[in-house]
Amino acid sequence: MARLYDVLEYPMETGLSNWRKDLLSQAEGKTLEVGIGTGKNILYYPDGVELTGIDFSPKMIEIARKKAKNYDNVSLQVMDAESMNFNDDSFDTVVTSCVFCSVPDPVQGLKEIRRVCKKGGNILMLEHVRSNHKAIGKMMDVANPLPLHIYGANINRRTFQNLLKAGFEPENIQITNLWFDIVKRITITNAKNNIL
Ligand SMILES: C[S@@+](CC[C@H](N)C(=O)[O-])C[C@H]1O[C@@H](n2cnc3c(N)ncnc32)[C@H](O)[C@@H]1O
Repeated sequence: MARLYDVLEYPMETGLSNWRKDLLSQAEGKTLEVGIGTGKNILYYPDGVELTGIDFSPKMIEIARKKAKNYDNVSLQVMDAESMNFNDDSFDTVVTSCVFCSVPDPVQGLKEIRRVCKKGGNILMLEHVRSNHKAIGKMMDVANPLPLHIYGANINRRTFQNLLKAGFEPENIQITNLWFDIVKRITITNAKNNIL
């Protein structure tokens, strides 16, 4: 989807770009963006952020490199979020936007984020999830195979529950609904109190 991604996503970008700006204004220090895709967030990072972006799609990284060419604070690598080549406690901030719909094993990806983010660091997420509304949630379950097979994205991910399975503590997770209860801003302080 790499070559079509920006075009297909364009109709949603008006709303998304405001949410991206708002979320990324909180990034600071050594920052990791997981599933950076075509690099749509790069222009929204505040000055002073030293950004590492990863994606497991070489084609996505190729396009992101073009967007990053005028930024000397950005480095990009092909890497799987489920098994990252970074040491524990490497980053002050970890960012994801519209990623945990498509990571094949989301709990493993979230465990890796918890590992590579420093204790006390921040995890900033903009994600769409399964609705808690009974009928809408059920419809999302029924419809899920379609987007999954067309472009590899699940529309019924239970990301809050996955965060808990990955070891994050509920009291450190702040969630704001941005569009019904489906698109959410999730911010987490990485307390690392639980030993996994
Ligand atoms: C819907 S796109 C979002 C791209 C970008 N974050 C944005 O906001 O436009 C999801 C991205 O996550 C990447 N991705 C999914 N699973 C991944 C994994 N296990 N490791 C690294 N990247 C992954 C995909 O390749 C894709 O580029």
